Amino acid sequence: MRFQLPNRSVQSIVSTLELKSPEDHPTKMPQSSFFAKSVPFEQIDKLAISGGYSSIFASSEPGVPVVGNWEQRFCRLADTFQPVLDRVYDFEVREDDVWIVTLPKCGTTWMQELAWLVVNECDFETAKNVDLTLRSPFLEFNGVVPNVPHDTIEAANALPSPRLIKSHLPAWMLPKQIWSKRPKIIYVYRNPKDAAISYFHHWRGMVGYQGTKSDFMHSFIDGYVNFTPCWPHVLDFWQLRHEPNIFFTSYERMKGQLGEVIAEVAQFLNKKVSLEQIEQMKRHLSFESMRDNPSCNHVKEFESMKAAAGREVEEFSTSPHRFVRRGVVGSHKDELTADIIREFDLWSDINLRDYKLNMDDFANYKKFASA
Ligand code: PPS
Repeated sequence: MRFQLPNRSVQSIVSTLELKSPEDHPTKMPQSSFFAKSVPFEQIDKLAISGGYSSIFASSEPGVPVVGNWEQRFCRLADTFQPVLDRVYDFEVREDDVWIVTLPKCGTTWMQELAWLVVNECDFETAKNVDLTLRSPFLEFNGVVPNVPHDTIEAANALPSPRLIKSHLPAWMLPKQIWSKRPKIIYVYRNPKDAAISYFHHWRGMVGYQGTKSDFMHSFIDGYVNFTPCWPHVLDFWQLRHEPNIFFTSYERMKGQLGEVIAEVAQFLNKKVSLEQIEQMKRHLSFESMRDNPSCNHVKEFESMKAAAGREVEEFSTSPHRFVRRGVVGSHKDELTADIIREFDLWSDINLRDYKLNMDDFANYKKFASA
């Protein structure tokens, strides 16, 4: 079954802006499923980091079961991703994989740990002793950090089933076999204002961003940071939410009803968890416990990135930019100015109007009425 998008879709709104770009010269990546158009220099300048950025387009219609203007859809990515994209697209999917797909900073790590425990019969011992990045690889990580020896695609290939794989890519850039083999996919939404502020701290601490918060927020809204534009990413999975292999949930629900979300994930993955295990998991998955757990708080990843970067990045394992940072709903309220909040709200309204949706619809959505 394919889902129809409204006529004046978000893609066409954003792509109209896209076509005005003076730097709009497509570069075909040789024999690639994708092609790239460079992002204007002033935008890269605003991102205040070194290296090129591009809008990536699909060379042919992807197999995602959503009707879309695929020739107009794009994803903004640093050019370091280009060697990785076809390897990801051609990645061998297994029917019993579980995929965690999110925009950055939406609670990916939190859901990875939750799902890993559900899949692995609450093996807290292994969870505490083996780094989550090894138990659940981030598939396109070598696009984020190209100069590290660890190849996450090879690592994912070598993992025994059932695998738990993380990706931030939009639906149409995920491995094409996803849409024929139909593994289980968990999609976590988070209010973009909170995700953007969390992403800002990530870029400060991990990527080495030296620009202003305001410039970063505008780059996020305009869709110039890795994996954006935001709304098409969310809306593809929103339209697929009733599919039996798709579980759409939110950071907000994890915060408010963690026990229920654990039970729902178990139901979705056909796993049994007892009430006692749910209570144990709630303790293990609490903000304080995740913050202090070196297997989940990305301290080791930060160290390897720091070594690979060959440049100074701000400290990431301690406040204010540490990975498990604040963990609240509504962090934008005291971290963003009223003007930027207004811009975010207007942008969301424009992007969601045709769908007759608002942000609460995504945050409150519950797949299983009875769970
Ligand atoms: S990444 O880099 O995209 O994988 O980041 P991601 O894991 O998606 O998101 C990081 C944010 O999730 C928060 N987090 C938590 N919140 C509440 N409880 C728990 N247990 C938890 N674990 C991680 C983390 O603090 C980041 O959000 P902010 O707003 O920056 O605190």
